[in-house]
Amino acid sequence: MKGVILQAYMDFVKERFGEEAYLSLISNRTILATHNYDDGEFMKVLKETAELTIIETSSILREFGIYFVDVFAARKYRMFYRNKDFLSFVLDIDRIHDIVTRTMPGASPPHFTYEKLTDGDLIVTYHSPRMLDDLVRGLFEGVALHFGANVDIKREKLGRNSIKYRISLLHSS
Ligand code: HEM
Repeated sequence: MKGVILQAYMDFVKERFGEEAYLSLISNRTILATHNYDDGEFMKVLKETAELTIIETSSILREFGIYFVDVFAARKYRMFYRNKDFLSFVLDIDRIHDIVTRTMPGASPPHFTYEKLTDGDLIVTYHSPRMLDDLVRGLFEGVALHFGANVDIKREKLGRNSIKYRISLLHSS
């Protein structure tokens, strides 16, 4: 996993859990944005955060997903948010990952495929050996929050290296 994700995570920890938690987690770590970190390192920081805050890792991951899209990337990668809404942003994820990681040797972002159902719902399939279900949910929720969309997200099917989500756009009258 790229260091930029760990950096975003540390920003999240500072904003969500405060300076003390941040200092305790960062103390013996040096995080460089372009460095490749073992996925285990991210899981380790996550576990340490859970121990420190007594919040389950699944909830922390989900909240981090929301923070990543709604705050961190919205500041650092503003150009991808222009003239977008929930749907066009979600359909653009592969392109965004492609552009962002083009200059990051060793990056391996996930891949997304889409299927539009006749009832208007969208099936989005997340393909990655990392299988970060809670993170992905949080990321979708972050996109919805950012663009003021009201969505219902259900996990439709779990594969070996993929997860299908059924996304319904709810229209508030
Ligand atoms: C402007 C918005 C975004 C930027 C700049 C961005 C950028 C990145 C970068 C740099 C990585 C690290 C890749 C690596 O370490 O190889 C990453 C990972 C990831 N991204 Fe994004 N991303 C964005 C939005 C999203 C959205 C909306 C989703 C899904 C709904 C998403 C899903 C993921 C997941 C799940 C990972 C973890 C790696 C994996 O599961 O294989 N990203 N992203």
